[in-house]
Amino acid sequence: MSLTFAARIDGHRIRCEIGTDRPLPAPVFCFSLMAAPAVVSGGVLVRRVAGYAEVALPDLAAGAVHELMLEHADPRYLPRNRAWLPLGAYLRLGRDCLPLPPGSDLGLREGAGPDAPKLDADRLPLVPQPSDWRASGGTLGFAALAPLAGLEGLADLAERSGFDPIIAPGGLTLAVTQDAALGGEGYRLTIAPSGLSVVVGGATGLHYAGVTLLTLRETCGGQLPCGKITDTPRFGWRGQHLDCARHFFGVDFILRLLDLMALLKLNRFHWHLSDDEAFRLEVESQPRLWQRTAFRGEGELVPGVFGGGIRAGGSYSKAEVARVLARAKALKIEVLPEIEVPAHSHGTVKALPGLRDPGDNGEEASVQGYIDNIVNPAMPATWEVLQPLTEEVAALFPFGMIHLGADEAPHGAWDGSPAVAALKAHEGLVTSDDMQGWMLAKLASGLVAKGWRVAAWEEAAKGVQGGIGNGALLFSWTGQGPGVEAARRGHDVVMCPAQSAYFDLAHTDHPDDWGAAWAGFVPLEKTVEWDPVPKGAEDIAPRIAGVQACFWGEFTTEDWQAEGMIAPRILGIATKGWEPAGRTDGAAIRALAGAYGPLFDRIGWRRYRGA
Ligand code: ACM
Repeated sequence: MSLTFAARIDGHRIRCEIGTDRPLPAPVFCFSLMAAPAVVSGGVLVRRVAGYAEVALPDLAAGAVHELMLEHADPRYLPRNRAWLPLGAYLRLGRDCLPLPPGSDLGLREGAGPDAPKLDADRLPLVPQPSDWRASGGTLGFAALAPLAGLEGLADLAERSGFDPIIAPGGLTLAVTQDAALGGEGYRLTIAPSGLSVVVGGATGLHYAGVTLLTLRETCGGQLPCGKITDTPRFGWRGQHLDCARHFFGVDFILRLLDLMALLKLNRFHWHLSDDEAFRLEVESQPRLWQRTAFRGEGELVPGVFGGGIRAGGSYSKAEVARVLARAKALKIEVLPEIEVPAHSHGTVKALPGLRDPGDNGEEASVQGYIDNIVNPAMPATWEVLQPLTEEVAALFPFGMIHLGADEAPHGAWDGSPAVAALKAHEGLVTSDDMQGWMLAKLASGLVAKGWRVAAWEEAAKGVQGGIGNGALLFSWTGQGPGVEAARRGHDVVMCPAQSAYFDLAHTDHPDDWGAAWAGFVPLEKTVEWDPVPKGAEDIAPRIAGVQACFWGEFTTEDWQAEGMIAPRILGIATKGWEPAGRTDGAAIRALAGAYGPLFDRIGWRRYRGA
């Protein structure tokens, strides 16, 4: 049998053509869009779960090409590019499922791209730029360092990345001395015609000096410019987030991402392990959670939302977590696990229905279109599950911090729950924000009492009683304003404003691009054209822990598709996390991305080269 499928944007609609060389009686077209679909013509909508839909088609004759016109149920969402076309499409015929080919090319087209502008002569081809660089003239031929304790992680990184060995017998000696004033991550590297020497603040500073030497060897063709580099980061938190719930990224991809982060001196990996579509961690306290939600699709609790297709998914074993942690440790990266509560929990409440109030008749919908994606704080089962679960997860990660989610609770959450109404009356709470804040504070205080720190998205600060409290680290994502506000109320904050730091947003508004668009588009330049401490908020500078890029996986169906979304934009986030304000502007980061092109190619990481 041969099936064909083509999809394209047609104004504000999506035109689909399904062809068959055999007769197909009463097929059901199953697929997902970025937002809840509606049928304009060509079929009848029979089921919808968030962006996933099933559409009954008429009998298709052999040789027929059937046309189906779709749009988004919410007319505010316009299809913007190929990522907004149906993903994971298949036909159901009775009990059989027949996969359809992709309706258009999947993933970002890398493009040839314009020539990168030339790097200014006073800049090193290095990201992030060092705090201070004084050229002294001349070059030093550099192939490798002589064996040196403390650079084992660097040596392995170079080997895995496909570079020549950075540690080799007969290599140049790196003379090391200590100066605690440089801080744990700082270093002062002297490159002279006669050789190399470094002063470090600690073990991480030595590792970063090694990363600088490795990078300059690659970007300068083995001839290091002579001079003195003095280098310390502006922020302690320099993060990259990865949504492994919507798309199950293989462990090997995660390890490669850690390697890329390490080359840019990023030091926090935010591992998003649960969301509406799946719970990915093989926890012992609640095996049903991952056993019943790790895969989605036909016959599963969660259908093929966000490109899940007939069946997709996976879960991370504790042995796999240990592999990620070992790699992270060798690269001086801490791992922050995230378990989402109370919202973004559709799969969780499907797997554990006791976490919902059976009397809840509310129909509040999440942004993604779920009407049942929030656990109920008035159910005793919620606490019997969440307390041991979050403790088990926190204990698994040596960083000592766990992220509890807290974003995007549906408007009017729990308004239909009599149990929550009684709890609100008892606790003096009125709104959903009050209720969420109370719940997070309760969960957080248990964790903090046992020695862990908690983190959450910006919404966790809401609520009449002060929200999550408990010294939580908050992540400002809808912009920087909520982060500034939270900082003024005493929270430490990581700035990850979508407008500059969300790598799931398309690079441009071109319909042939790929990615989300809710906060605009994020060309490379925008990743540096902002300040983590915004103008007028200098008073809260000490509360800004740092910056982070996020990659959400709604439209990712294969690991490789994330690469061109992350690179080269990850250069911008590394820049913001490390450099003093204003050091590298849009033109300079574009030139640096050009200098890093061969390096990305060498490590086999796809990069977007369009405008
Ligand atoms: C988020 O992007 N919903 C944190």
